[in-house]
Amino acid sequence: MSFAFGIGIGTQNNQGEWLEVYYQQPIMTPDKALIDVVESALDYQGGNQAIEASAEQLHQFANALRQLGQTEQATLAEKTAKSKRPVVVTVLASDDTASSTPEVYLKLHLISHRLVKPHGVKLDGIFGLLPNLAWTNEGAIDLNELAERQLRARIEGRTLEVKSVDKFPQMTDYVVPKGVRIADTARVRLGAYVGEGTTVMHEGFINFNAGTEGTSMIEGRISAGVMIGKGSDLGGGCSTMGTLSGGGNIIISVGENCLLGANAGIGIPLGDRCTVEAGLYITSGTKVALLDDNNELVEVIKARDLAGKPDLLFRRNSQTGAVECKTNKTAIELNEELHANN
Ligand SMILES: CC(C)(COP(=O)(O)OP(=O)(O)OC[C@H]1O[C@@H](n2cnc3c(N)ncnc32)[C@H](O)[C@@H]1OP(=O)(O)O)[C@@H](O)C(=O)NCCC(=O)NCCS
Repeated sequence: MSFAFGIGIGTQNNQGEWLEVYYQQPIMTPDKALIDVVESALDYQGGNQAIEASAEQLHQFANALRQLGQTEQATLAEKTAKSKRPVVVTVLASDDTASSTPEVYLKLHLISHRLVKPHGVKLDGIFGLLPNLAWTNEGAIDLNELAERQLRARIEGRTLEVKSVDKFPQMTDYVVPKGVRIADTARVRLGAYVGEGTTVMHEGFINFNAGTEGTSMIEGRISAGVMIGKGSDLGGGCSTMGTLSGGGNIIISVGENCLLGANAGIGIPLGDRCTVEAGLYITSGTKVALLDDNNELVEVIKARDLAGKPDLLFRRNSQTGAVECKTNKTAIELNEELHANN
């Protein structure tokens, strides 16, 4: 059984190197019959392979797929045969470390199409395979070719708009998953997993290999690798610590029905029904005073010892400055209107 499959349309630079690939209908665990057709029509040799296909090959491929009863993929292959841009058929026999740009794009698509959860696909080494590109109103452009393209556009009376210079494109240029609101599409990168019922407001941000399980109001940052549980809200400007740059190696996550207050931050995973007071940043070594229901000190422990524990309220005592943790009595009632996405 193969791991994943996708027919994509991509962009190459003047050297014929892949810059990016769009897969409209990526699929997980394609059946053997489909892979056999890739072998016979496109000379697939096995393993993980990204095969550039000509229009003629795509027609043959589409016919073979149709005979097999794979109507959707057959129609897609037939449509892509008319593409003015290069077409690639990518087979991932296994979830090995990616070895080409089309493979990385397929993996990122799998997450954003909600076919796998963050951490459900191997993404090590992807940075080396994702070129830093100019993402423009005319698509992805190799930075070495940008000045020439800008000049050409001006000569033709147009302006080339460079929307970002980055290794990752915005997710919504590739897929808009069902039941989401995204106020500023530039803030969600391809490879984000945006759960049904999620609203990402203008200040919200979702990195690749990160996201939300379901209903959430996201007004803060979800760093790479961080997953937010159903019914949890991230307040304005709050931060979840990533593991990419100095954040340590604990994978941060947020349980269900939590609230990270505005400008708060976490460097530990939170369990269900936890609240972090607005403006409080808890790092894993933060010394926390555990209080009982009468606000009496029980003990002082490090925040990392509370990682993943449910029903906690973290606050900074406004008189002493000490970080305190109490039982979270006010379970978070989410405002249903706020979460009505559809
Ligand atoms: C931490 C937080 C949840 C506490 O809210 P709460 O549970 O409703 O608590 P209250 O404000 O009713 O306070 C309860 C008691 O704790 C005290 N208290 C609250 N915060 C305190 C603090 N930081 N230090 C000392 N005492 C504090 C209150 O004075 C009150 O004392 P009392 O019992 O003597 O009257 C709230 O302050 C908060 O930060 N919410 C986040 C909201 C947010 O940012 N949303 C996202 C918007 S984008």
